[in-house]
Amino acid sequence: MKQLIDKLQETCVLAPEEYRVLIDQHRDAGLAEYLFAKARTVKMQNYGHDVYLRGLIEFTNYCKNDCYYCGIRKSNGKAERYRLSKKQILDCCAAGYALGYRTFVLQGGEDGYFTDKKIIEIIQSIKKNHPDCALTLSIGEKSYETYQAFYEAGADRYLLRHETADAEHYGRLHPAVMSLKNRKQCLYDLKEIGYQVGCGVMVGSPFQTTEALVEDLLLIKELNPHMVGIGPFIPHHETPFADQESGTLELTLFLLGLIRLMLPSVLLPATTALGTIHPQGRELGILAGANVVMPNLSPVEVRNKYLLYDNKICTGDEAAECRSCLQKRMESIGCQLPVSRGDHRSMV
Ligand code: SAM
Ligand code: FES
Repeated sequence: MKQLIDKLQETCVLAPEEYRVLIDQHRDAGLAEYLFAKARTVKMQNYGHDVYLRGLIEFTNYCKNDCYYCGIRKSNGKAERYRLSKKQILDCCAAGYALGYRTFVLQGGEDGYFTDKKIIEIIQSIKKNHPDCALTLSIGEKSYETYQAFYEAGADRYLLRHETADAEHYGRLHPAVMSLKNRKQCLYDLKEIGYQVGCGVMVGSPFQTTEALVEDLLLIKELNPHMVGIGPFIPHHETPFADQESGTLELTLFLLGLIRLMLPSVLLPATTALGTIHPQGRELGILAGANVVMPNLSPVEVRNKYLLYDNKICTGDEAAECRSCLQKRMESIGCQLPVSRGDHRSMV
């Protein structure tokens, strides 16, 4: 099996059956360590010891969608809803800038209150105040024209996880009004417009099969995104998936390692969900090939309302304001946190 990992490092691609046997039949601690060592080497060749920071601003937890896994789905009547004002968002960015953040990620539910006009005003104000910063949007599915308008207003990057590349699986995670076809179209539109684009999945989401994960890897390779966001699925008690098992740390790390070898210069976050299922989840993610962390920069009073899943970490060492805590944690594994936009290598 080590030969398959060598092959992946050399050629950046495997046959579907090869991914399947690696994931399904031969995954053990020894193979994982072999994979992670290669993934770290490839990461070093592309980004050295740098781990890039993004300040995450969760600006609304209203959502018109009803994804079965998500704690802010519209049917969750118990979610305490909030929206940040433009001023609050700009204050978050100013605080983040002072702490050394040079990328801000605006994430939210699909909230009709934030019309295209409002979002454009927010983008323009952030870019006016911080012309040396990158701005990432993560606000769901929009039309080509809307994505284009956001890009022209100054947005640089867009995160839109495809969630699963298997249409049947997609249908078991979402109500029928949402489709994999549209999700994929959005990703191709974003790429065509010129964004740095991120797709991704939840590892261990209900009904996920190895075949579906292999499909995910094939789609990731085909789309060739600048970023890939993967983290474990974690149940939320007020959703239809309340009683489902979480995804595992071990499989998430293994997939991070594979993705690093498939896309050597990809920007790969060690996600909040990974930090939630294990106290050292983020460090382990970095050691498996990730090179981005996205601490929470939202106002402290709303952080515990943006609950996609139970027990989400959002304060303490994980929060954006404790840059020195994070710095110490990253230095303890031989990494550094540059004050940088942290663009994909192809863009610099
Ligand atoms: N509305 C935007 C969108 O659809 O892309 C951004 C917000 S959405 C809540 C961000 C991501 O959270 C989703 O793409 C999904 O993968 C992840 N997520 C939602 N519920 C989750 C859960 N229960 N466990 C882990 N991740 C979850
Ligand atoms: Fe909001 Fe899924 S519940 S996008």
